Amino acid sequence: MCGIVGYVGRQNAVSIILEGLKRLEYRGYDSAGVCLEKGRRLEVVKKAGRVDNLAKELGRRRFTATTGIGHTRWATHGAVTDANAHPHVSSDGKFALIHNGVIENYAQMKAFLTGKGYTFKSETDTEVLCNLIAYHYAKEPARAKGRNRFMESIRKTLHHVEGTYGIAVLCVDHPGEIVGARKASPLILGVGTDEYILASDASALVSRTQNVVYLKDGEIVHLTPKRFSITTLDQADVSPVVNQLTWSVADSDKGRHAHFMEKEIFEQPAALENAMRGRFSADGSTALFGGLNISPGEFREMERFMFCACGTAWHACLVTEHLIERFARVPVEVDYASEFRYRNSPLDPRTLFFVMSQSGETIDTLAALREAKRKGFRVMAVNNVVGSSIAREADGGIYQHVGPEVGVASTKAFTSQLLIGAMIALYVARMRDMSYSDGVEYVNALKGAPELVRQALKQAPKIKAIAKRYAQYHDMLFLGRLSLFPLALEGALKLKEISYVHAEGYPAAEMKHGPIALVSEKCPSVFFAPKSEIFNKIVSSMQEIKARKGPIIAIATADAPLPDDLADEVIRIPECHEAVLPIVAAIPVQLLSYYIALERGCDVDKPRNLAKSVTVE
Ligand code: G6P
Repeated sequence: MCGIVGYVGRQNAVSIILEGLKRLEYRGYDSAGVCLEKGRRLEVVKKAGRVDNLAKELGRRRFTATTGIGHTRWATHGAVTDANAHPHVSSDGKFALIHNGVIENYAQMKAFLTGKGYTFKSETDTEVLCNLIAYHYAKEPARAKGRNRFMESIRKTLHHVEGTYGIAVLCVDHPGEIVGARKASPLILGVGTDEYILASDASALVSRTQNVVYLKDGEIVHLTPKRFSITTLDQADVSPVVNQLTWSVADSDKGRHAHFMEKEIFEQPAALENAMRGRFSADGSTALFGGLNISPGEFREMERFMFCACGTAWHACLVTEHLIERFARVPVEVDYASEFRYRNSPLDPRTLFFVMSQSGETIDTLAALREAKRKGFRVMAVNNVVGSSIAREADGGIYQHVGPEVGVASTKAFTSQLLIGAMIALYVARMRDMSYSDGVEYVNALKGAPELVRQALKQAPKIKAIAKRYAQYHDMLFLGRLSLFPLALEGALKLKEISYVHAEGYPAAEMKHGPIALVSEKCPSVFFAPKSEIFNKIVSSMQEIKARKGPIIAIATADAPLPDDLADEVIRIPECHEAVLPIVAAIPVQLLSYYIALERGCDVDKPRNLAKSVTVE
């Protein structure tokens, strides 16, 4: 949801900002723009389309500057046009601003400013914010003692703003300075030698420094090439904590792969190893989590679990629900974070609340966390990005440790969430009825998951060939039962996200209550068919599809006795423990959607209209 970068230092800001924007492009790619200081002028170059368009334009004009800001946009207010691209400049020409978030009361402010003679070139809320800063600046005494007028005008403006923002601002009267601020949109400061980089996330600055400060909501940062200072909206000084990033620029490169999505799919065995490293007890019968900040005794007292998330992470929560209820026999509720935050659902006091979020910045998930905390619940986070808003605000949590996930369609983050969900189920189960030997068997199964995923990945050439045959269909069903019903949802979501094929995920037996009306030779069904006590029921559902001429792609475990000629295509995955099955079953649907998207000529890493980190409601 928009990426922002700001640079102050002694180097060429243009190349540093452009590199940052390319790395942030997964956050939005409707348009891109920069504002660079040129003497006492602010030069803006912005274009609808990808960062590459902007880079070409900047290359032609040979800009140099040592201070600048840049933005890659995911449109909220206003169409995808050059005029609506950021940065926006105030109508007096004094300020340039980039923004990630939504200003909710922009219409009132726009009316007020219009009355004062300010003019607007775009339809954006951001331009209103920029002009409001100009308005407060004009009113601010030029020589406020000990105060920076630039900072003060921003502080005053933000007191009037409702909504969310991560911003970076330049002012013609203050060359070599940037002011940044955040509320509910991420902003991180890279601390280099004689240079500072402000960015939406670490990928934009990790090539220049590994020292970072995670800014908090309500903080304002002031940068010059020599120093930085952080204060709150209420003018209190903040002592910054400088953290070390634990990953390097190589982690966010595509390497030999054609797409980030492909790289991240094939990275999954290693990602799963990382997610479980050091997280089993010495006797090998249960899971260990270092960061929960809740004692095993308190955990044991919990009578319910509640999980909130969005998108793919919500699917991981549904699998976790199944595993906790199945192995630990404790009731679990799963809700979309966006629904939970407004639903005011009654919660039992002995409920332990979990949120799951790869980015840790999804605004609805963050809001659900805050709502649960307001109601007095302790909230645990399963989260990948260290230092994210959710990680900081949760009472405790479990990091996924899978490194940066750049592809918009979540893959390795999903399977690591499934793994952590399975480990939570084990942890709870071992506190209750699960025996030591069942615990050991479960742990050994989880430890074997990376190897099983490696084997499943070997099906890639076969799945690629299947994708060629199925790429031209317009509709597809994904059907699964029990722990693989959420995988059916995930398979359908993946296909929709990156291939733009209409797909629906359903519990296989529910298919009779509606979706079967879609079935014809033009609508293939992808069936999860693991060997289980309900295998025959799944076969019956497949027969019902076949009787209506629907093509069938079966994803079956190696031991599943599929009748000959029932499925048109069979993708075999290794047989595995119930806790590992969803992880292994994810691989073929990830590969299928990836290869279908390639066949259809889709931009896999940057699917239309989507963004990786959804920081607006
Ligand atoms: C977006 C992404 C999805 C992701 C969801 C939740 O919709 O495109 O891939 O699953 O947000 O993201 P989170 O970072 O909270 O896991």
